[in-house]
Amino acid sequence: MNTEIIIRTIENSDRQWIKSIFNEFWGGDIIITKGFIHSFNDLDGFIATSNNEKVGLITYKITDKELEIVSLNSFRENKGIGSSLVDTIMTLARKQKLKRVWLLTTNDNVDALKFYQKRNFTLKNIYPDAIKLSRKLKRSIPLIGNYGIPIRDEIELEIIL
Ligand SMILES: CC(C)(COP(=O)(O)OP(=O)(O)OC[C@H]1O[C@@H](n2cnc3c(N)ncnc32)[C@H](O)[C@@H]1OP(=O)(O)O)[C@@H](O)C(=O)NCCC(=O)NCCS
Repeated sequence: MNTEIIIRTIENSDRQWIKSIFNEFWGGDIIITKGFIHSFNDLDGFIATSNNEKVGLITYKITDKELEIVSLNSFRENKGIGSSLVDTIMTLARKQKLKRVWLLTTNDNVDALKFYQKRNFTLKNIYPDAIKLSRKLKRSIPLIGNYGIPIRDEIELEIIL
């Protein structure tokens, strides 16, 4: 079976699918980072496909020569899909001569902390209790996250280019 992963940019016709992914994995149509609301409709991004099936999604926002990875999902883990999507973002950031690629994750997402640190991201900041504000804007954020860890803080990781 051909398992080649193809990465392509998001098209308008993908928006409803992105909306469903945001709802299923991120609890709503929006993602909040540092109090900023990102809608599924406004973000740029890339989709990974395998045999014409969508197997991964990364979304981002570029502001002031910095690229924020807003979401990353792989639907077939441990096959290189997440890495390919992050590589695509790094290539884009270098092409556009951006200064920094960064992202926020929550304190419970230890798998993401491992994943990004093994891909050269370093810890930049911890925002203790930041999820309190996010919960005011998005009530669906659960109290308890991965591995039964209470979701409280935002952790910022970055690569300086
Ligand atoms: C974090 C996440 C995006 C990783 O995606 P993924 O597709 O599993 O990532 P990869 O396959 O590229 O890498 C995962 C592991 O698989 C291994 N791997 C990659 N290709 C492989 C292959 N062909 N065969 C076997 N293992 C492989 C990698 O070595 C890697 O291990 P490492 O991190 O210890 O180095 C995914 O787990 C996910 O969607 N998590 C939920 C959402 C989330 O937390 N997103 C990030 C926060 S925004």
